[in-house]
Amino acid sequence: MKVLVIGGGGREHALAWKLAQSAKVQTVFVAPGNGGTATDRRLQNLPITDISELCAWALREKIGLTVVGPEVPLAAGVVDVFRAAGLRIFGPTQAAAQLESSKAFSKAFMQRHAIPTAAFATFEDAAAAHAYVDAQGAPIVVKADGLAAGKGVVVAETLAQAHAAIDFMLGDSSPAASGGEGRARVVIEEFLQGEEASFIVICDGKHVLPLATSQDHKRLRDGDQGPNTGGMGAYSPAPVVTPAVHARAMREVVLPTVRGMEQDGIPFSGFLYAGLMVDAQGGVKTLEFNCRMGDPETQPIMMRLKSDLLDVLYAASEVGGLDPELALQWDRRAALGVVMAAHGYPDKVRSGDAIHGIPAEAEGAVVFHAGTTLQDGVLRSSGGRVLCVTVLADSVKAAQQRAYRVASAIAFDGAQMRHDIGHRAIKA
Ligand code: AMP
Ligand code: GLY
Repeated sequence: MKVLVIGGGGREHALAWKLAQSAKVQTVFVAPGNGGTATDRRLQNLPITDISELCAWALREKIGLTVVGPEVPLAAGVVDVFRAAGLRIFGPTQAAAQLESSKAFSKAFMQRHAIPTAAFATFEDAAAAHAYVDAQGAPIVVKADGLAAGKGVVVAETLAQAHAAIDFMLGDSSPAASGGEGRARVVIEEFLQGEEASFIVICDGKHVLPLATSQDHKRLRDGDQGPNTGGMGAYSPAPVVTPAVHARAMREVVLPTVRGMEQDGIPFSGFLYAGLMVDAQGGVKTLEFNCRMGDPETQPIMMRLKSDLLDVLYAASEVGGLDPELALQWDRRAALGVVMAAHGYPDKVRSGDAIHGIPAEAEGAVVFHAGTTLQDGVLRSSGGRVLCVTVLADSVKAAQQRAYRVASAIAFDGAQMRHDIGHRAIKA
């Protein structure tokens, strides 16, 4: 079978790498891919990003399954377009992708279906938003409605920060206003305390198959300091998700979400990512939904997956196609991925730095590419997150040590990385 992976980041490199291991797969095309997928003999880059062009190409090439990595094509309706053309594709429809693409939609959905989440209110009017924040007090969280690549959330420690965030998100120069997407909206919500976990499942519209748990590191600098990013590293499994927490997450969040979407007439198929806040008592609340895999969570998760990913995604791309008795097989070892980011990330990213020293793939150690491109035989940075050095080892601590050993051999000007990925799972 020929398979198409849409996207060009570290997540897509890891998905394509895993799909290519299936005996049933002839070629994995990655559109547009990156410098890493360009150099992997099992993968082939396809320089197309326009959805209707991709669809026409997939029909011509008789692509047997398409897997969508990022949220942007999902929110733009790539699944609807491919299905209408009779192509098999794994991912949510445009309507179902609103679970991620609209915070207002997902918060209203959670309220309607009694799914635990932070208390909240939604505003289009800045004066009303300011008054609400004054009444609630700080800390408080201000979120822009719409896709914002991890930059639309301000965790305000003071009222002044909250007011500034409202002015930024609802002002005339706000991203929504200048993007012409209609009226800007903010969601203001209660600040939740606890430890975060990424809880990702495969859905076929009816049934759910949980993936291994993981934890991301959203802040740029060690000790969870500095600005929010798309994620600076991740590991799997996440010990904060004990068996009891896992059971609660399934019972209170994931299953009611899948049932709720079905009841609302917009069944969810695809990867469903619940960002959870786990409190000291093991209670769970939903911070956000994503309608896709996490990046960089995918990289360690794919390293641990032993089952054939193609079989599972092929089955799940049909409503009710997943075998409800099926459980995925996982490597018992821990996997940990360290992101190497470009100079200036997450603000003004510099591109074009030459990258040296990437080791060949070894057992249990893979350097997944994200923002890289191959120019005249030279690998150069081309995005914010450049690489994700991902390893398997007997413990999170051993994986951390090995990942940093591998990363220390890799060099490019301005490279940034955290030095404490996995710290919550490592007891001193
Ligand atoms: P989101 O894009 O909604 O996941 O938010 C990005 C990050 O902001 C999350 O990973 C959390 O670290 C933080 N965050 C979001 N909502 C809350 C909340 N209600 N309470 C505390 N932290 C939050
Ligand atoms: N790593 C967080 C995300 O993919 O949303």
